[in-house]
Amino acid sequence: ALISMRQLLDHAAEYGYGIPAFNVNNLEQMRAIMEAASKTNSPVIVQASAGARKYAGSNFLKHMILAAIEEFPDVPVCMHQDHGTSPAVCQRSIALGFSSVMMDGSLGTDGKTPTSYEYNVDVTRRTVEMAHACGVSVEGELGCLGSLETGMAGEEDGIGAEGVLSHDQMLTDPDEAAEFVKATNVDALAIACGTSHGAYKFTKPPTGDTLSIGRIKEIHARIPNTHLVMHGSSSVPQEWLAIINEYGGEIPETYGVPVEQIVEGIKHGVRKVNIDTDLRLASTGAVRRFMAQNPSEFDPRKFLKETIGAMRDICIDRYEAFGTAGHA
Ligand code: G3H
Ligand code: 13P
Ligand code: NA
Ligand code: ZN
Repeated sequence: ALISMRQLLDHAAEYGYGIPAFNVNNLEQMRAIMEAASKTNSPVIVQASAGARKYAGSNFLKHMILAAIEEFPDVPVCMHQDHGTSPAVCQRSIALGFSSVMMDGSLGTDGKTPTSYEYNVDVTRRTVEMAHACGVSVEGELGCLGSLETGMAGEEDGIGAEGVLSHDQMLTDPDEAAEFVKATNVDALAIACGTSHGAYKFTKPPTGDTLSIGRIKEIHARIPNTHLVMHGSSSVPQEWLAIINEYGGEIPETYGVPVEQIVEGIKHGVRKVNIDTDLRLASTGAVRRFMAQNPSEFDPRKFLKETIGAMRDICIDRYEAFGTAGHA
């Protein structure tokens, strides 16, 4: 069944678990997520980015998610739009049938430039008014995602100017968060607590304080009824990096957010945990390995099937670690 994010996250808060929100771009990811959810009896949040809508086409994505709901009737599914850059973008997703949208007013319409607090409140509040009238939930974002180690906002290629963000900018201010939630009435708030998007989060193996758990606690204490969201929550599995590099890939040493630290965040109000990169890495590793080991194969179903299995195993691990399993 299609369900709003609010319903899912309220249940998660009541029972003290978190829900991974996996990005979806293609059939293989969709199948992997649904098979994992069905196996572990977990509710699902799938999210489509602007890039996903561009790659697959909005209608393909919509009907793929609806097809998944039809094929797995016992799994509750929230169809979420990731990182909307304006109220108009969110409105189009609502019209298309999404049950939840993110209005990311922390960045401008280019999806890159940090904005003022006033701009963020304005676009988010307008989106909430429109979305709630349609029974659709809204996630807002306050703060700039950035790695506390490198000061980088997260670069897809691992190359970027270091120290572009100050330590202060990379941690959402608890008082401002309380004011923001009051002014916008968002259902969920993405916070900056030391995570960043992409595969290049940390250059060294993570220690105990990769994330600012202290800051998550402070924010949760101020806004206990707002569900917290952690973007950039891929763990960058070292075993998949090794497979990619063993079979011809060239990915430099890099580390993600340890699952145990995400679990610690879940104990303090984090309910939605965004994961994209981990499924990309598993997919790439599975294809590289299969092609290297089966050089005469040319049926794409053979190597794409490998990606489904690889992604499914990661989804199962996260559903189990975050306590989502058993709550469908
Ligand atoms: O927020 C970033 C997600 O990983 C989506 O990435 O914009 O390349 O689809 P994308
Ligand atoms: P990762 O790049 O860590 O998977 O984060 C994804 C994300 O936050 C999507 O919004
Ligand atoms: Na931001
Ligand atoms: Zn994100």
